[in-house]
Order: sequence, then structure tokens, then C-alpha cells
Amino acid sequence: MLFQKVCTLDDLWEGEMTEVEVDGHVIVLVRPEGGEPRAFQGICPHQDIPLVEGKFDGRVLMCRAHQWTFDASTGKGINPGDCRLAEYAVKLEGDDVLIAVEGVEPFFAHS
Ligand code: FES
Repeated sequence: MLFQKVCTLDDLWEGEMTEVEVDGHVIVLVRPEGGEPRAFQGICPHQDIPLVEGKFDGRVLMCRAHQWTFDASTGKGINPGDCRLAEYAVKLEGDDVLIAVEGVEPFFAHS
């Protein structure tokens, strides 16, 4: 699996999120409080809205458009509970944050 560097831990403090693009994949990179960075699909599964434009309180990621919420540690939908974000593999090398996109496809809902 090919991991590519997207930023360093200094660029992403706990409770912060940022958007990165790797090989055409738009990715929202979040750093939950007390946790390691996690990488999820950057576009909301509801409609075509970048999740980085929403809110992140260190635990929950909320889309700005219709307030769908996701657990930032797992990508699982909180409200509604039957959706989820596709997750990308993240690896740390020292302070470098690397992501692999191979084989991951974003989820999209129908409503
Ligand atoms: Fe994200 Fe509707 S587009 S909740």
C-alpha cells in the first residue's frame, strides 16, 4: 500500500481538521481529542458538500448543510445513524502524517 505524506502533526492539533487531496481523493483529516489523526472521505455522503466547511468539536464532525453528524474516531453516522464515512489508512512516521487511498471509495446516500 502506497502511503503519501500530507502534513505533519504540527499542522493538525487535537480538535482540528483540514482537507487534503491525494490522487484525486478529497479527504478530511481530523485529529480527535486524545487520539491519532484519522482520514475520511472529504465530501458529505448526503450531498456534494465539503465536510471541512462544517464543524468539528474534537469528537463529532458536523456537515454545515443539513447537520448530519459523524463520530470522528470511527466515521460512523450519529445522526442519521445509518450512514458512515469511508475511512482511509493513516500512518505516522515521526511527525509526518501519511495517507493511503488505494481501494477506498467514498459512500454516497440517496436522499
Ligand atoms: Fe451534508 Fe446534507 S450535504 S448533511
